[in-house]
Amino acid sequence: MAGVQRRTVLAALGGTVAAGAGGTLGAGTARAASGTTVQGAAPERATQGGPVRNRPARNRQAARTLPYDDRVDSLLERMTVEEKLGQLQQLSWAFATGPGSPDNKKVEEAARSGRLGSVLNMFGAKDSNRLQRIAVEESRLGVPLLFGLDVIHGCLTTFPIPLAQAASFDPAVAERDGAVSALEARSNGVHWTFAPMMDVTREPRWGRIAESCGEDPYLTARFAAAKVRGYQGAEPGDLASPDRIAACAKHFAAYGGAEGGRDYNTVDVSESRLRNLYLPPFRAALDAGAVTVMAAFNTVSGVPAHGDAHLLTEILKEQWEFDGVVVSDWNGVQELVAHGFAADAADAARLSLNAGVDLEMVSTTLADHGAGLLDEGRISEERLDDAVGRILRLKSALGLFDRPYVKESAAVAAPSEQARAAARSAAARSMVLLKNDKGTLPLDKDTAGIAVVGPFADSADLLGTWTFPLAQENFRSGKLLDAVRAVARDAEVTHARGVDPAGEDTSGIDAAVAAAKAAEVTVVVVGEPPAISGEAAVRSELGLPGAQEKLIEAVADTGKPFVVVLVNGRPLTIGGWLDRAPAVLEAWHPGVEAGRAIADVLFGTVAPGGKLPASFPRSVGQIPVHYNHESSGRPYAADNKYTSKYLDLPPGPQFPFGHGLSYTTFAIGEPRLSRARIDAEALRAGETVEVTVTVRNTGRRAGDEVVQLYLHDVAASIAQPVRRLRGFERVTLAPGRGTTVRFRLGEEDLGFWSNAPEGELRVEPGAVDVYAGNSSRGGRKARLTIG
Ligand code: NOJ
Repeated sequence: MAGVQRRTVLAALGGTVAAGAGGTLGAGTARAASGTTVQGAAPERATQGGPVRNRPARNRQAARTLPYDDRVDSLLERMTVEEKLGQLQQLSWAFATGPGSPDNKKVEEAARSGRLGSVLNMFGAKDSNRLQRIAVEESRLGVPLLFGLDVIHGCLTTFPIPLAQAASFDPAVAERDGAVSALEARSNGVHWTFAPMMDVTREPRWGRIAESCGEDPYLTARFAAAKVRGYQGAEPGDLASPDRIAACAKHFAAYGGAEGGRDYNTVDVSESRLRNLYLPPFRAALDAGAVTVMAAFNTVSGVPAHGDAHLLTEILKEQWEFDGVVVSDWNGVQELVAHGFAADAADAARLSLNAGVDLEMVSTTLADHGAGLLDEGRISEERLDDAVGRILRLKSALGLFDRPYVKESAAVAAPSEQARAAARSAAARSMVLLKNDKGTLPLDKDTAGIAVVGPFADSADLLGTWTFPLAQENFRSGKLLDAVRAVARDAEVTHARGVDPAGEDTSGIDAAVAAAKAAEVTVVVVGEPPAISGEAAVRSELGLPGAQEKLIEAVADTGKPFVVVLVNGRPLTIGGWLDRAPAVLEAWHPGVEAGRAIADVLFGTVAPGGKLPASFPRSVGQIPVHYNHESSGRPYAADNKYTSKYLDLPPGPQFPFGHGLSYTTFAIGEPRLSRARIDAEALRAGETVEVTVTVRNTGRRAGDEVVQLYLHDVAASIAQPVRRLRGFERVTLAPGRGTTVRFRLGEEDLGFWSNAPEGELRVEPGAVDVYAGNSSRGGRKARLTIG
């Protein structure tokens, strides 16, 4: 195996020799140490055939790799060591998204002297052109800069947070966000986004769950691929278009596993869990063409990801043949010292470059120490050229050598009507109806009186985490109160804030209660301010902050019908008041069209069809409480104390993964298999089993249902999750209508990755239960036998 060999070589040379240089430049082309190009020196391939299957699908999509460009060779030949190290440096402009403040003068000087490859946090056609001109026209070789920005769920047009998008179970939502964002960003000089984030997580305390797709690797993988297509386009060559940007698959890897949900914290994970849980979304993103990957802040089984050659070189660059750019996270290289992994900054530079980091964000260890390390033979010229070559080929793929500047007159200055419509539809499709007793929802727009209360009822602060400063200033969220007034034109719509989003002052509750008493129905809008979700926003309690729950209780005490709308960035513990609320709509942080999108769902213009991408715990003490856990030897049994349970809680979460109601009802049939038995060999040869599932709208309104397909491998050499999602499809059906949904199960669906460091996808003989249903609970079952 390539990986095993690499490990041996590194060990034999005491870790001081560059990892992964010549063999990773891309399809059939490798750069020799001398600087000449050698054709036909393809990267080592993993063994084919037999039980070991790690031939990357990427091999079948070689056209998606960064293209060869002979200008890159010519540049590499002419560059000094300092200029090469300069290409490996990214500095921040204008504002900080990590510790320290940017120094624009230093950035300009570095650009002028050819000691800078990339800049983050630059936005605006004019400003980016000005800085680009310094690099292109004033530096010795005129290499253009690469501008990167965190365009996470929208640029000027803020879409719902990624967790919400995942709840739509409709990857087209992410693809549209990607395409809209790409146009807005690129026209303003941004070439590259640090997204999509694809860290699978079982930790609602972790603020970055808002940026993720939740707890499931398959759902995350589907969304990751869709987002990459949205940013980069579906065709090779799209990257150079004026409406596309490069994507970044982040954070590699297992960042979502941070112990205790504390940001930047330790992760200890087996190889099989790494490959089955955390890595599949990255493979999917690369298969969709993602050209960059960002290293994670955390350690992975003792080794910080920024210094982990197994992750960055063996798996990513060798086994998966990734020939794009690995960027560090903000200061992540320097932080190898704080991790206690590197002795000092020079050591950090050596370890990270040798492990596979190509571009250093913000810290300057390589620029400061690279030349010395090279002289001492602690890093190799070959590895340096490999890293520079990757960065230059990315610039070439983006068309920067031909068109370094953007057309200032074409810069998008505000969300277009189409972009807003896409954001509104995305937000509405992302909402999850958690509960709806006695048909409380949808609301009737002809209701005489509606009270809209709570701290977020009249709030424009519903964009969510990671929003772009210009959007925060100029393109804030539409307010729900305004939207309700616009829809229910003849109703008396009243408002009282009740309480603040945080803080214990309850003096405003009386006014909210009075409004609720006077109205026919009340909408209580509560949740989390965006500032307490996202990076470095970890919570130890997951209830509604401040006195918001008291507001719900007080409205419930009126005895009148009411609906709770949640606006939040993570699963919350809502068991304290859930029984008292007739209806609960999870709206997440919905983005720029928040008000109108929530109103669309409340009044039934759009049928709610979202499903939870992460389980809602009953209490913080129950975390982790994901659906795809392994079975213990003593699974929960109500009548047996000596089984896996909490003494003081019912089993399972408050709401499981995949849960979500509609205003109508559906019947999902049992899964029908095209064959009841398939040989492992046939699966390895690419054969599949087709599963068909019928779904019918049995209610009186049109609506959406998500047909979900789960598998359970009954007995395997590594204990398998009790269920794992391997297919889903969202359908819209008129009352009484039905359809048949088809899924295909192949080797990747029915197999699992073993603990082998070289990557081994195993398909073992035995029974696999196939469940079809509308959540990770229940559903109907068929059995497939692998022979
Ligand atoms: C730190 C975050 O972890 C990363 O996701 C982001 O892209 C960088 N900061 C740059 O802002």
